[in-house]
Amino acid sequence: MTHQVLIAAEIKNLVQPAQLTDLDVTWLSSHEPTPKGDWVAIVPLLSRWIGGTELKNLPNLRIVANVAVGYNNIDLVAAEMRKVLVTNTPGVLTEATADLTWALILATARRLVEGIDLVRSGKWTGWHPEQLLGLELRGRTLGLFGAGRIGQAVGRRARPFGLHVLYTARTPKPEFERETGASRVDTSELLSESDIVSLHVPSTPETKGIMNRETLARMKRGAILVNTSRGDLIREEALATALELGHLGAAGLDVYTDEPTIHPRLLAAPRTVLLPHIGSATAETRRNMAGIAVSNVQAVLSGKPALTPVYS
Ligand code: DGY
Repeated sequence: MTHQVLIAAEIKNLVQPAQLTDLDVTWLSSHEPTPKGDWVAIVPLLSRWIGGTELKNLPNLRIVANVAVGYNNIDLVAAEMRKVLVTNTPGVLTEATADLTWALILATARRLVEGIDLVRSGKWTGWHPEQLLGLELRGRTLGLFGAGRIGQAVGRRARPFGLHVLYTARTPKPEFERETGASRVDTSELLSESDIVSLHVPSTPETKGIMNRETLARMKRGAILVNTSRGDLIREEALATALELGHLGAAGLDVYTDEPTIHPRLLAAPRTVLLPHIGSATAETRRNMAGIAVSNVQAVLSGKPALTPVYS
């Protein structure tokens, strides 16, 4: 028996034909709206909103298998009410995203973009003892706002750089603390004690706008803010102001509130490293993400439990 499914066209090259056995696939490109019809599964990218209207237009839908670990593009309440399962892709993108977080930490701390711009401009006049002085990492403090899989992977990479690690989390992480020497603190201490604050919480009503004028002001003068989670955790105008005033030393961002639009003041702000949401962008990771999403669909349509459900 074949099942009619909608799959993001952008993952076509990332899935093996064998993974699509028994699926009658309609490839849906991200610029097409979500159609109405009899499809029983949808595999969307994080840029596709799946809310009440979309779910109503797909009355036979059994699963939304998001190709992302974050699922803030899906109205979970509406999905649960309609008994539609929602799955994500946890685990497989942890290391790739932690690596990219470190790329941002190093790029901001050591002023890589300014250095590259200087070389390319042809204005570099040679070695100077006070040129592009950055932040020495050894002995400094990295604050992980959130210590789930990705936050912890970022924290584990901190030790060889000689950083102390602080973290916030609802529950203590004793194994992580043993491995890294990290200490669990409250948000206030994390902000005031960290030289680098890296965000690793999902976007929820509680966390949206968590980095705002008031919380940014509580960060140390000259501190660095890094975000590879979701853009709407940060009030971008407030961040631009903190950078313009020199209160923050730098910001390294991979995600934005209104992707692909970037707030013009953030684009113009000094000391930023701005990337185009590539935290999980390695070939292996993207293949694994696509593979898990399709495997969730196959499992659910053959009457088995989902592999990585968002709720049970
Ligand atoms: C996710 O999976 O949520 C990421 O943002 C995509 O890299």
